[in-house]
Amino acid sequence: MAAGRTLSRYWMLTNDFAQNPYPVLEYVRREKPVCEVGMPNGGRAWVITRYEDAKAAFNDPRMSRDINVHYELMSRQLGRKITPPPEQANHLANLEPPRHTPLRRAISFAFTPRRAEAMRPRIAELADELLDRIDGRGRADLMAGFAVPLPVMAIAELMGAPASRWPDFIRWSNAQRDFSPLDAADGELERNVHELSEFMTDLIAEKTRTPGDDLMSALIHADPERRLTHTEILSTGFALMSGGNDTTASMLGGALFTLLTHPRERERITGEPDGWTKAMDELIRFTTPTHNALHRVTTEPVEIGGVVIPAGEVVIISFLSANRDERQFPRCPEKFDIDREKPAHLSFGFGIHYCSGAHLAKVITEVGVQRLFERFPDIRLAVDPAKVRYQMNILVRTIVDLPVEWGKD
Ligand code: HEM
Repeated sequence: MAAGRTLSRYWMLTNDFAQNPYPVLEYVRREKPVCEVGMPNGGRAWVITRYEDAKAAFNDPRMSRDINVHYELMSRQLGRKITPPPEQANHLANLEPPRHTPLRRAISFAFTPRRAEAMRPRIAELADELLDRIDGRGRADLMAGFAVPLPVMAIAELMGAPASRWPDFIRWSNAQRDFSPLDAADGELERNVHELSEFMTDLIAEKTRTPGDDLMSALIHADPERRLTHTEILSTGFALMSGGNDTTASMLGGALFTLLTHPRERERITGEPDGWTKAMDELIRFTTPTHNALHRVTTEPVEIGGVVIPAGEVVIISFLSANRDERQFPRCPEKFDIDREKPAHLSFGFGIHYCSGAHLAKVITEVGVQRLFERFPDIRLAVDPAKVRYQMNILVRTIVDLPVEWGKD
């Protein structure tokens, strides 16, 4: 991109950007670190690309995640009133204090790092089940056969859903991921949301009657002083599903690709007793599964990075860019460097909306890569790394297929 050219069209969802976003982001970060882009719906947004500006934006209460603020803006843009569906309107990622606070307290109580750790042996069993299915074939697509199903199975199990419903979970989670208020009239989307609500309603009734050792039971019984309402529990269930599946699939796929293309680093990691745990944050920084934060809307004019963003504007924080900001990571940010000290990435966000599932995502990724490389030590990419393609939606960037082979020369 030529220096000085105004960035006006929505470059963030183009295919070229999905394949290699780094040169464009490096240019924007240097030349216009807080810049305007045109949005696909004809509106505009502001993109924040530097690490320190990103952190300041996450901490600024004038950058709102309140879904009603977002729907008011969209209603104005569309010229007609639209309102959020209840399972989105009461979802903790879509609320600000004071409504965010009790939901966050309940989820922090119920979904502890200890609960995520306790799932480690079960996640290893689930990983082995998936690897058994591809063992003996000598060739597989690790996205479809491993990285996509493992998080869905782990999260369904965490929530106390029976294995027979896991295929439905994949469908429902995809529908949630693709949710956009502008296609709220889409019949298939509505059907999926309706089915998921019915399933969750039955699950909540069952776990209210007979609590188990699962996350839904813990959420229902989290805080005796302030019991969550049915709608709040339902929405939190939606948040866990939509927040956890494709993000972790992208993370696991990206980690596998990185380790397949960096054999020397992989050898060092496997040779150290807690090598995987130590390498995890650099893997998460380097792959950055969620390329953007959830959109914010300014409730007042906000000055950030020397630019005043007016009130009522959409703000996009680029994790991909912040995680490669040379001001924060002076030692070759474009390199996967397992000796990097404190790779304090922003991949799980920052501030009050910091990812509730961060610990579980790390456990799934760590156990997934560990099981795979233990079972197939000679596994290798079956295509030229330059041929591995990425796709991206507004939030997540994911490898499409990851063809690998093993066992034959
Ligand atoms: C590698 C995988 C994951 C990544 C990269 C990721 C990333 C994020 C990010 C960036 C946020 C903050 C969004 C913002 O402020 O704009 C977030 C929030 C959230 N994530 Fe994750 N996530 C992952 C896995 C999970 C998992 C496994 C779960 C649960 C099963 C989960 C549940 C949530 C929830 C509930 C929130 C909303 C928290 C709040 O608003 O208070 N995430 N995640």
